[in-house]
Amino acid sequence: MEVLKRLETVSGEAAARIGKSESLKEVEELRVAYLGRKSEIMSVLKQLGTLPPDVRPRIGRAANEIRGEIENLLKEKENRLADDIFTRLEETERIDITEPGAPVRHGHLHPITQTRMEIEAIFTSMGFTVAQGPEVETDYYNFEALNIPKDHPARDMQDTIWTTVECPLRTHTSCVQIRTMEKHTPPIRVIAPGRVFRHEETDASHEHTFYQVEGLMVDRGISVANLIAVMKTMLRSFFHRDVTVRLRPGYFPFVEPGFELDINCLICGGKGCSACKNSGWTELLGCGMVHPNVLRRCTIDPEEYSGFAFGMGLDRLVMNRYGVEDIRLFHSGDLRFLEQF
Ligand code: FA5
Repeated sequence: MEVLKRLETVSGEAAARIGKSESLKEVEELRVAYLGRKSEIMSVLKQLGTLPPDVRPRIGRAANEIRGEIENLLKEKENRLADDIFTRLEETERIDITEPGAPVRHGHLHPITQTRMEIEAIFTSMGFTVAQGPEVETDYYNFEALNIPKDHPARDMQDTIWTTVECPLRTHTSCVQIRTMEKHTPPIRVIAPGRVFRHEETDASHEHTFYQVEGLMVDRGISVANLIAVMKTMLRSFFHRDVTVRLRPGYFPFVEPGFELDINCLICGGKGCSACKNSGWTELLGCGMVHPNVLRRCTIDPEEYSGFAFGMGLDRLVMNRYGVEDIRLFHSGDLRFLEQF
C-alpha cells in the first residue's frame, strides 16, 4: 500500500538522520521536521478520515507506531547529547581542589590615614574628642569668625580656592574651632583632622591639597604652658623619643599670642635637605592662645575662659617619621612608594 510504504521510508530516513545528529539544536529541528504540524506523519494522521474504512485502522496504527518510535529516538538522542555536554564540561572545567589557591593581595591604609588614626588615639588618650567639618566652607567659618574680615591682609596669606563668591574650599581646619565653640560650652578639648586646599605652587614640602589636624582646648586658666605640655606629649608619643622643638612668634589673626612650632628635621637629622629647605628645621604647626574676639563671637566669655589652638600639617608629620623627602609622593598614586608603608 502506497501510504504504508511512504511511512516506512519516512521512518527509516528519520532514524538515520537522528542517528547522525550531533547537537540538541539539530535534534529539535528533526523533531519539527518529522513530528511537527506540517510533517508527513501528521498529515497522514490528519487525513485518516478520508481513507477507506477497511485500511484506516492499519494505517492509523502504523502511523502512531512510527510516531512513537521517532519520539523515542529523539528523546534518547537528546539525553545522550545532554550527557555528552556534561562529560565534556567535567573534563574541560575540572577543578583540582588540592591545588594551592592564588594568593590574595592585601591592600593597606594610606600612610597619612595610618598617621591620622595614630594621632587621634594619642589625643583621645589625653581626653580630647574628634570633630569634623565640611570641606566646602562658608566665608564666615573660614575667615570672618576667625577674626579675618573681608578687607584683612591675612586673607592673602592663604591662597584660597573659591567654589562661589561666598564658599571657599577650606584653607585650614581652624573653621572647626568655630563650629565646635558654637555648639559646646567649656571645658572643650577637641581635635579636628581633615583635608584642606590652597591655590599654591607645589614643591617638596607644599601641596595644594594636604591634611591638617586642628586642636582646641578651652577652659578656665588655660595658658601657653598647657599648649607646650600637650605638644610635647603628642610629639613624644608619636616619635617615641624626645624631639627638639622650636617655638617662634607667628601671626594668625585668631590667636594672640601666636606661634609657629618647628621640629628639628628628622629627614636629614638637622643637616639640611630639600624638605626643610636646607634649614635643618621643619615647620610643623601654627598655634597660640585663642583670640578674645573669637571666644566672644562664640559667646564664650574671655574674662572667664581662655584656650589654646593649633593647626598641624599631617603630611609633614608623616614625612618626618618615615624620612619622605617630597610631599608630592603621597598622592602620586605610585604603588612602589605606597607599598613601603
Ligand atoms: C594655619 O593653617 C592655621 N590655621 C594654623 C593655626 C591653627 C594657627 C590654630 C593658630 C591656631 P599655616 O598656614 O601655617 O596655619 O598651616 C599650618 C601647618 O600646615 C603648617 O605648619 C604646615 O605644617 C602645614 N602646611 C601649610 N601649608 C602647607 C602646604 N601647602 N602643604 C603641606 N603642608 C602645609
